[in-house]
Amino acid sequence: MRILGIETSCDETGVAVYDDKLGLLAHELYSQVKLHADYGGVVPELASRDHVRKLLPLINKAMLDANCQPDDIDGVAFTKGPGLVGALLVGSSVARSLAYAWGVPAVGVHHMEGHLLAPMLDDPAPEFPFVALLVSGGHSMLVNVQGIGQYQILGESVDDAAGEAFDKTAKLLGLDYPGGPLLAKLADSGEPGHYSFPRPMTDRPGLDFSFSGLKTFAANTIRAANDDPQTRANIAYAFQEAVVDTLIIKCRRALKQTGLKRLVIAGGVSANRQLRSALQDMMVKMKGEVFYPRMEFCTDNGAMIAYAGMQRLKAGEVEGLATKAQPRWSLESLSAL
Ligand code: KG4
Ligand code: ZN
Repeated sequence: MRILGIETSCDETGVAVYDDKLGLLAHELYSQVKLHADYGGVVPELASRDHVRKLLPLINKAMLDANCQPDDIDGVAFTKGPGLVGALLVGSSVARSLAYAWGVPAVGVHHMEGHLLAPMLDDPAPEFPFVALLVSGGHSMLVNVQGIGQYQILGESVDDAAGEAFDKTAKLLGLDYPGGPLLAKLADSGEPGHYSFPRPMTDRPGLDFSFSGLKTFAANTIRAANDDPQTRANIAYAFQEAVVDTLIIKCRRALKQTGLKRLVIAGGVSANRQLRSALQDMMVKMKGEVFYPRMEFCTDNGAMIAYAGMQRLKAGEVEGLATKAQPRWSLESLSAL
């Protein structure tokens, strides 16, 4: 079976062709980062319009790279939600129309299920069950994953997502949007021991997160500090250390609570090298295993949507003829395969 996957939930246009026997045949990504940089965040209307411009050329390129004709495609998967409604509708309309024209089924994919299953694109893939830490720009959650579609949310952010906290703090430090990777880079030249940020909600039981306090703490710290490059790097270091530490504490708790020994991390923030290495160290100590997607599939991409869509299509899930988007959509409401 061969699936065309389309991702347009936010500011990345992603397209991929995935074959269940041959693996990933092509993937294309266009990032709108430059378009939104001047505004310091994603402007939804600009995002939708740019998806309209970029999506069809990217599909053509992916089909060409995969050496595919429309006849070779058995289904079209698209991100149905959660995300920006206008952006989602672009992917949804194109996917639904192409599937209709090609006489194949269309299948709507939950964006976070796409992230969650992204490590399955690589070898070795994690086996079920596992605990998943999903950390993106819009979501932060710990999930008990017993199988595809069997998701129990163990904890989630009560305010900002981890990526959002990275982006907002980066902005306070004068970095461009999206600031997460830039803040991480600045932190590389920071020195430990100069600043100490809180580890929110770790002093009480439970698996929920709260990151908005860290951003406020960063704002106050920056206001009181000198504006020299080394000081800014030291603040970035302390902020990143606090986020990573908090995530580690909660992951350890989730593993203990569920009795599971396998951890999967996914979503944009899973590209953070400090987080990856700290989780690796923790799992060695706990005699468990950690899995994460390859760097390019941590952030939004079409490959994860093609993969998740294939699993759902194989289980018989198909969309009707209407174009649908679901900007708000609970991960727990998905059906088990
Ligand atoms: O999953 P994603 O591409 O989009 C959403 O679904 O939200 O995640 C994007 C988020 C942004 O907030 C970005 O700053 C953050 O992931 N991010 C990082 C890193 N790379 C991306 N945060 C920290 N360190 C990184 N290396
Ligand atoms: Zn995402």
